Amino acid sequence: MMKVKGIAHRGCPSRYPENTLISFKEAVKLSYSYLELDVQLSKDGVPVIIHDTSVDRMTNGQGRVKDLTLVELKELRIGGTEQIPTLEEALTLLRDQLIIDIELKQMGNLYPGLEEKALTMVQEMGMLDQVFFSSFDHYSMVKLRQLEPKAEIGLINHSASPALFPFLKELNARYLSINLDYVTPELIQRCEQENIIFIPYPVDQEEDMQDMLRYPSVLICTNELERWASISSVG
Ligand code: G3P
Ligand code: CA
Repeated sequence: MMKVKGIAHRGCPSRYPENTLISFKEAVKLSYSYLELDVQLSKDGVPVIIHDTSVDRMTNGQGRVKDLTLVELKELRIGGTEQIPTLEEALTLLRDQLIIDIELKQMGNLYPGLEEKALTMVQEMGMLDQVFFSSFDHYSMVKLRQLEPKAEIGLINHSASPALFPFLKELNARYLSINLDYVTPELIQRCEQENIIFIPYPVDQEEDMQDMLRYPSVLICTNELERWASISSVG
């Protein structure tokens, strides 16, 4: 079966809770070629997979991720049965399955050492060529580039500005993620010219998916994996 060209955003959140191992397994089962996940650090410095800076929305607990140890985070439950995965668990599960977009949820210096810790884990597991790192915090990606010249890097921004392109070049970054609301044909064309893989997010509605089909160079990021698989007709 051919792989579905698209990024499974936080796994398969239309079927299973986001950023959980069961959700990641589902994206693999649906033959996605890329998967995105969000990484933060526990109080004791372990890279863990969760989107919000607090555990309140997704788990039966309360508090900030950075104030809870790994043991405390592992005691929590998501949807009754799932746990917050570590980055190591996610990488182990996804080895050789698809390309992983590791979004570092760095904000200023909220997570000191996040870049080093996530990168070291990927390197030690020999998976550098199976991942790319991305962040809204562009300085985080500068740090990542300084640490590892060979790492693939992406920038995330809500909207696009022309100033992003020289910066992408300087960083030797390969991916650019922009909110779908700010996507224009000109932006897509500019990415093609600059050899940047363009990622609109989130592309969940059928009409937006149909629209994106007009641009073969684009890699859409979606929460609606089955919908995109059926529309893009490559599953
Ligand atoms: O990669 C784009 C997307 O993951 C960024 O938004 O808030 O879902 O992490 P968010
Ligand atoms: Ca994300």
